[in-house]
Amino acid sequence: MCGIIGYCGPRIAAPILVEGLKRLEYRGYDSAGIAVAQEGRLNVVKRAGKISNLRSHVPPEMPGIIGIGHTRWATHGEVTDGNAHPHTDRGGKVAIVHNGIIENYQSLKDRLESEGVTFVSETDSEVIAHLIASFYQGDLEQAVKETVGLLKGTYGIVAMHADEPDRLVGARNGSPLVLGVGEDEMFLASDVTAIIAHTRQVIYLEDGEVVSVSHRDYRTTDLRNNHIEKQIDHIGWELEEIEKAGFTHFMEKEIHEQPESIRRATKGRIDLEYATGHLGGLNLTNRELLDINRVKILAAGTSYHAGLVAAYVLEALARIPTTAELASELRYRNPIVERNSLYFAISQSGETADTLYAMREVQRKGGRVLGICNVVGSTIARESDGGVYIHSGPEIAVASTKAFTSQLTAFYLFALIMGRMRDMSHEQGLRFAQDLDSVPGHIETILGTTGKIQDLAKRYARFDNFLFLGRGINYPVALEAALKLKEVSYIHAEGYSAAEIKHGPIALINEETPSFFIVPDDGLRGKVINNMKEVKARQGPVIALAVEGDDEVASIADDTLFVPHTSELMYPFLMTVPTQLFAYYCALERECNVDQPRNLAKSVTVE
Ligand code: M6R
Repeated sequence: MCGIIGYCGPRIAAPILVEGLKRLEYRGYDSAGIAVAQEGRLNVVKRAGKISNLRSHVPPEMPGIIGIGHTRWATHGEVTDGNAHPHTDRGGKVAIVHNGIIENYQSLKDRLESEGVTFVSETDSEVIAHLIASFYQGDLEQAVKETVGLLKGTYGIVAMHADEPDRLVGARNGSPLVLGVGEDEMFLASDVTAIIAHTRQVIYLEDGEVVSVSHRDYRTTDLRNNHIEKQIDHIGWELEEIEKAGFTHFMEKEIHEQPESIRRATKGRIDLEYATGHLGGLNLTNRELLDINRVKILAAGTSYHAGLVAAYVLEALARIPTTAELASELRYRNPIVERNSLYFAISQSGETADTLYAMREVQRKGGRVLGICNVVGSTIARESDGGVYIHSGPEIAVASTKAFTSQLTAFYLFALIMGRMRDMSHEQGLRFAQDLDSVPGHIETILGTTGKIQDLAKRYARFDNFLFLGRGINYPVALEAALKLKEVSYIHAEGYSAAEIKHGPIALINEETPSFFIVPDDGLRGKVINNMKEVKARQGPVIALAVEGDDEVASIADDTLFVPHTSELMYPFLMTVPTQLFAYYCALERECNVDQPRNLAKSVTVE
């Protein structure tokens, strides 16, 4: 989604802003711009398209040591130079960048127009610049506060005024904003990746907070001017982690990082003596955990698929009724929140609006929500009642890969804890922990077969429709495989339970619709084989993802990929990785923009 950067310090601002925008590219955007103040004037450059297009229009010697920048993902108004941010007031003194949606912008715009203001863009954001200008009486911070007091909706805003050459003002409500504290310089950003090259000392703003920044200091207050004491956090990861490290794409790199990211997610969290897991952030005593009689998982997209697998594992191990639900749906159906239910909000970014709002709705009703997040300090991580960081490291590709397997890992550990408190014996717990521990090694084996997967993708990337079919715990894996293929290669793909195809989707089967079957050596293997035969009987091409040595499956399928043998509950990890690679290579074959697929954003901060 949209990205923000602001700089205030002794250095020339424009290159810092453009470089920061480049680092925000992964979030998804369609246009970008910067505004820099110099000698009482604002210079604004903004363009539809890539950052490279913006960069080519920024004068090489653009002066000014304070500025703001933005990458836009269109919500109100088309993708044009004029709709790109920053937006300015009619006097050209105020510039703002805005993430989020101003819901009452039309009434504010009508009012401003009746006062003679002419709007030059179709965006909701432009009202902010005009309002600040209308309130401005020599104090930008105050004008911003008066403005945001009128706004309904969500915002992360950074504003500047040409007459205050050492002042940026940021305000947050529902869209993330972080202050980076450097040596004699300050940064504001929607995402720490934009500023990590310059500072690791950050302050996360909360909703309702305003920060006023000069190059030397900052002041955080609420809208009533009450001072708010903030803590400085240290970002623990390295700049290299947001670079490609020799891989062609971030998606490829992140798929290959999975053995390591899963190891990180389990590190220090397995207790072999008691054959259980250890998750310090749950903020629940064992007695409280024992009282839980229902678990509900809220999430979106890939994280929702992780939740579906998690529900299966928790029920299997701990015999606790567990359901996963799309967060966007839960929020609006007046959910029943019971005393002994435990909720999980799963979100890689920790900023997904659908998940965040569903979480708040559950909390408002008195429910306890734990977060499973990757981004440290993200809104869901901070607002949840406890939780687990998955420690995947930054995930830059829009298509989520390593976060999915680490989300599973975190939940498997939780299931182990809950299972050991209920049904599981010490021996069963130990076996489960050992099986989980062996997953990274198996994934390394699978990553050694990328040539075969690439070859398969070369032959199948020409098809326009795919079915992904699995059963039981691998049914969500089929859903995730279909999502991955469609989002990066734009091939239409559907995920189904293999048992369901006879209830409708089999009507789609012909020579032009391949079916990709997930066939582990579990109790449902025979049933899935029958479904494969049903597809073959109708001339449908069949790809099978089976377990090493399964000659029967290989003899039925047109093409077979193999994964190593493991225990039943561990197959979702092993079956997912080849489908990620298949999607990746199909996207390459179709010359798609793998890391930034069209229309998508990494972190979806609007409903
Ligand atoms: O950051 P989150 O995990 O909350 O994101 C949820 C979805 O937007 C995300 O998983 C999306 O579906 C990805 N593009 C999938 O690859």
